[in-house]
Amino acid sequence: MGPTGRPITNFPEPPPLDGHGPARIISLCNQKGGVGKTTTTINLGASFAEYGRRVLAIDFDPQGALSAGLGVPTHDVPTIYDLLLGTIKNPAEAIVHTNVPGLDVIPANIDLSAAEVHLVNEVARETILARVLRKVSDDYDVILIDCQPSLGLLTVNALTAAHGVLIPLECEFFALRGVALLVETIEKVQDRLNPAIKLDGILATMFDARTLHSREVLERVVENFGDDVLETVIGRTVKFPDASVAGSPITTFAPDHSAAHSYRQVARELIARGAVA
Ligand SMILES: Nc1ncnc2c1ncn2[C@@H]1O[C@H](COP(=O)(O)OP(=O)(O)O)[C@@H](O)[C@H]1O
Ligand SMILES: [Mg+2]
Repeated sequence: MGPTGRPITNFPEPPPLDGHGPARIISLCNQKGGVGKTTTTINLGASFAEYGRRVLAIDFDPQGALSAGLGVPTHDVPTIYDLLLGTIKNPAEAIVHTNVPGLDVIPANIDLSAAEVHLVNEVARETILARVLRKVSDDYDVILIDCQPSLGLLTVNALTAAHGVLIPLECEFFALRGVALLVETIEKVQDRLNPAIKLDGILATMFDARTLHSREVLERVVENFGDDVLETVIGRTVKFPDASVAGSPITTFAPDHSAAHSYRQVARELIARGAVA
């Protein structure tokens, strides 16, 4: 049995793709901070790229942690903010290659914190990101959006642009607190803006198999969400902060670490579930 109480599946190595695009767009959302959204975006993106998928990661948090974690500059460069405001029309001007072949990023910085105020009077303000991403979708197989810890207009834009949502949940006290509100927000977006959006999965992060507490939290999560919980669980390890400081995914910083293998497995599981080509 795996940690989620189901038999362990050996997700197969995905076959190479014949061609590329259009991208499936996945938003990584949880209005709680520090649950592993950014870490998951970085490492899942790097893992899909290792499997030959073309990946674009969108930094959609003014903290810019995704950009920093991928070693990409955020100052005096075009960012997602410029694309949202239309001061830059062509996303290619903001796209940066990372050190991981096949993984590109559109950076963000603190400017993005002004976006909600600036966009509030725009026509169709919820669909601005969707319209930006439409221009690059054909060049990628998957686009991952690293959301900020809030359910405001930026996150609604991310949900409106997405085909699927991946919710990272930290295996800690109160992990489930707030998830009902997140699900409600997803349902509202589905009802009013994006009928096709679906929940791609819930990813348990920072799991510590040695503590009863971690195991109990995971049990509760599975009780609540059943098969929506991915079989793959991410363990707690200091390798993640170490890799962030080095500005690289764990899959290249410590390629043989169990945590690197876990994220590759998440990538294979999502491909096996049909969330990504
Ligand atoms: N599985 C893990 N084990 C240990 N530390 C982790 C793990 N995942 C993320 N972290 C660390 O926890 C902090 C918050 O993670 P992050 O991905 O930035 O969360 P979020 O984007 O949801 O705010 C970061 O310092 C990160 O390096
Ligand atoms: Mg983050």
